[in-house]
Amino acid sequence: MTATADRTEAGNQPPHAELFQPITIGNVEIKNRIVMAPMNTIFSMDNLGYVNEQILAYYAARAKGGVGLIISECVLGTKMASRFPYTSNLHLFNPSHVPGLEEVVETIHAFGSKTFIQLSIGFGRQGHNHDHEPPPAPSAVPYETSLEMLPKKMLETIRKNESFFHPSLPTVAFADKPREMTREEIKSEIEEFSNSCLLALRAGFDGIELHAPHGYLEHQFLSPRSNKRTDEYGGSLENRMRFVLEIYHKVREKIGNAVPLGIRLSGDEHMPEGIHHDELKIVVKTLGDLGIDYVHLSSGSYEATKYFFPEEDGTMCEEAAGFKSMLPEHVPVMTPSIHDPALAAAAIRDGKTDLISLGRQLLIDADWANKVHAGEKFRKCTRCCECLARTVVGLPVRCLHNRDLGREKYMPEYWRPTRAKGEPVIHQLAQLP
Ligand SMILES: Cc1cc2nc3c(=O)[nH]c(=O)nc-3n(C[C@H](O)[C@H](O)[C@H](O)COP(=O)(O)O)c2cc1C
Repeated sequence: MTATADRTEAGNQPPHAELFQPITIGNVEIKNRIVMAPMNTIFSMDNLGYVNEQILAYYAARAKGGVGLIISECVLGTKMASRFPYTSNLHLFNPSHVPGLEEVVETIHAFGSKTFIQLSIGFGRQGHNHDHEPPPAPSAVPYETSLEMLPKKMLETIRKNESFFHPSLPTVAFADKPREMTREEIKSEIEEFSNSCLLALRAGFDGIELHAPHGYLEHQFLSPRSNKRTDEYGGSLENRMRFVLEIYHKVREKIGNAVPLGIRLSGDEHMPEGIHHDELKIVVKTLGDLGIDYVHLSSGSYEATKYFFPEEDGTMCEEAAGFKSMLPEHVPVMTPSIHDPALAAAAIRDGKTDLISLGRQLLIDADWANKVHAGEKFRKCTRCCECLARTVVGLPVRCLHNRDLGREKYMPEYWRPTRAKGEPVIHQLAQLP
């Protein structure tokens, strides 16, 4: 049966109709439930974190492909964060970063999607610099990776291309012993980060996502594995939560309800002595009570990457349901890594999540949303993790099965159209406090 015949019998509904219901996050309406997950592309190759033509065209392709919301790659929101990256990221902490990001926003809008920025206060112990200065972290506890904690297919990719990952080759991914941040640094980083959120509004982003999963700085404060402090930022959960809550309060104080403010959190660290689902549920409840506008789930950390790059669909659905149970009804949850549209629609129908976020699946096929809507075949991600294997050594993302990824800037269909007649030249924001 064709998709059209199917649709007529089902009362003109597209296949997997749950995916195509609009939803409101804070004061922003999203046209469907399909989100592009944040993915660091390493397309910005200047080491200064500025936007370039390739970044614009890459996002244009995904917006044109029909997703309702694009969450930007992780953007570093303080100068100190930018001095200790893992590989390389976009930056947003001074006004010179704004014009490029404004172009990202305008391009995504021109192709029909909304966009939130994912802003990070730092990699903490997962970052480094070329002078081997100790990265600032809650405590002087280095992180350790092991091959068993990598996704199996990524390990196969590495083994297949062994010389590419040879330890004698210059690489940017390694761990240095961190140093404990002072309380003064904590306060000044939070202040600078909250000012960067104001810059994000000037760039025109429709929302802000606080980046707190995957063993980054905020996660490191939450986790008893990486936080051994004896002051008011360490020890009890109440103390370990303090850093994240102070960030939330300071950002909210600055931006009010001008745009939705969400957070990404791992549902479980999956490491001994780490922060687990029961405690993370309390963090989510606290943020829900304070007024967070949405929660974006992930899992694991750099020590346990196999949990945030799952090898099959739906591995995070139970953690998603756990988070949802702690939040008021109007606060949606986003869940990554459900590539099969039938399973994605079922997860929404069964109340486990409100939106789905797609990462690797949109690298292989930017048109997933439009194709699913039309009942057409799409290219399915094999989860081989070649994309990731390149980015961990500091090279821009590519996909073995999509030769257009990384070359969108040469494809005129993804060039920015002329500004529509009457479109304002300055973004009008909702009231700031
Ligand atoms: C190349 C690459 C870069 C990523 N960078 C980020 C990032 O900057 N921030 C983030 O929160 N997650 C990042 N992720 C994780 C994705 O957002 C997503 O949660 C994960 O890939 C699982 O979803 P998937 O199975 O659809 O890929 C990245 C994933 C990939 C493949």
